[in-house]
Amino acid sequence: TTPLRLGIAGLGTVGAGVVKIVRQKADLLRERTGRPIEIVAVSARNRDTDRGVSLSDYAWEDDPVALARRDDVDVFVELMGGADGPAKAATEAALDSGTDVVTANKAMLAHHGQALAERAEAHDAILRFEAAVAGGIPVIKALTEGLAGNEITRVMGVMNGTCNYILTRMEGAGLTYQEAFDEADALGYLEADPELDVGGIDAGHKLALLSSIAFGTQVAFDAVELEGIGRVTIDDIRQAADMDFKIKLLGVCRMTGRGLEQRMAPCLVPASSPLGQLDGGTNMVVIEGDQVGQIVMRGAGAGEGPTASAVMGDVMDLARGFRVSTFGQSAGSLVAATPARTATP
Ligand code: NDP
Ligand code: HSE
Repeated sequence: TTPLRLGIAGLGTVGAGVVKIVRQKADLLRERTGRPIEIVAVSARNRDTDRGVSLSDYAWEDDPVALARRDDVDVFVELMGGADGPAKAATEAALDSGTDVVTANKAMLAHHGQALAERAEAHDAILRFEAAVAGGIPVIKALTEGLAGNEITRVMGVMNGTCNYILTRMEGAGLTYQEAFDEADALGYLEADPELDVGGIDAGHKLALLSSIAFGTQVAFDAVELEGIGRVTIDDIRQAADMDFKIKLLGVCRMTGRGLEQRMAPCLVPASSPLGQLDGGTNMVVIEGDQVGQIVMRGAGAGEGPTASAVMGDVMDLARGFRVSTFGQSAGSLVAATPARTATP
């Protein structure tokens, strides 16, 4: 049987996790997909870094664009990050070559998802990104496959583990915002630019992707009404607790008569509700469909194993011959999202 050949650009937390799964679970992957999954080439900034896993079997490319263009790569796995720069250039190069792409890059997709999806379609390539939303929780698969027979009425959730950790520590240990922020920093939770986390931007990226998938609209990150957690005080949290509520950085998207509503902001949720009970660095996504009612999915939204797990789900679908892009068969059929806040009532 023909192997599925991967080229992996980015060997940090997620990339190294993917390499480990491919190496350590080769028999299982072959059993489940019916063909071997092999890595042929890898790329990162620094060739000499010890990544906790052997890379000596694979070709090395200094330039991720060159990796993306290799003839012997069936799937380009983009795990570098960044909305623009090498991640976008290499993803475009892969798609232009007709090579399928699996990525975890929510920032790139939130800003360029529609253009990349159209590019993929034009070159008969597939673009998938389960890992970009809520890390290890297979929420995209749930929406696009298991719940495909539903009209989705609302999707909401806690999609940034770092913010949930900070709010949980303020609530449980009585820390100030700054103390909880410093603790998250010391634990290595914060993105290189912390504003992506605490400003709600990272969670907003994920919400924009979910809205697009749930409602068949073009990705509209600029239309997300965004507010981060920087202004939440310990007094706010105590007052909420007095009324049996908790404060969560909650994302909500729903289609209204006035257009698509996308909000990511600190919200009061009942302390006894599933969202209210979500403590620490985890994620929760709540999906409501007209037939199924409410589904609650909870799990790790970040980290090596959980995020690599989601990347592998996409890779294994491609190995099985399930060649369907996350945005669906036709990116051109996605309609422009009319933001509810600017629509005429
Ligand atoms: P890291 O910062 O740990 O790793 C990034 C990797 O990309 C590094 O190996 C780095 O090389 C490489 N890289 C960066 N720039 C270049 C370049 N110009 N050329 C070649 N390689 C380059 O990131 P993560 O693994 O944490 O994240 C990867 C992606 O996954 C991001 O899009 C992120 O948003 C997404 N994601 C991450 C999650 C997580 O829990 N970490 C969860 C969900 C999504 P070097 O190591 O040599 O510096
Ligand atoms: N910074 C993100 C979080 C990483 O805290 O959830 C996963 O996307």
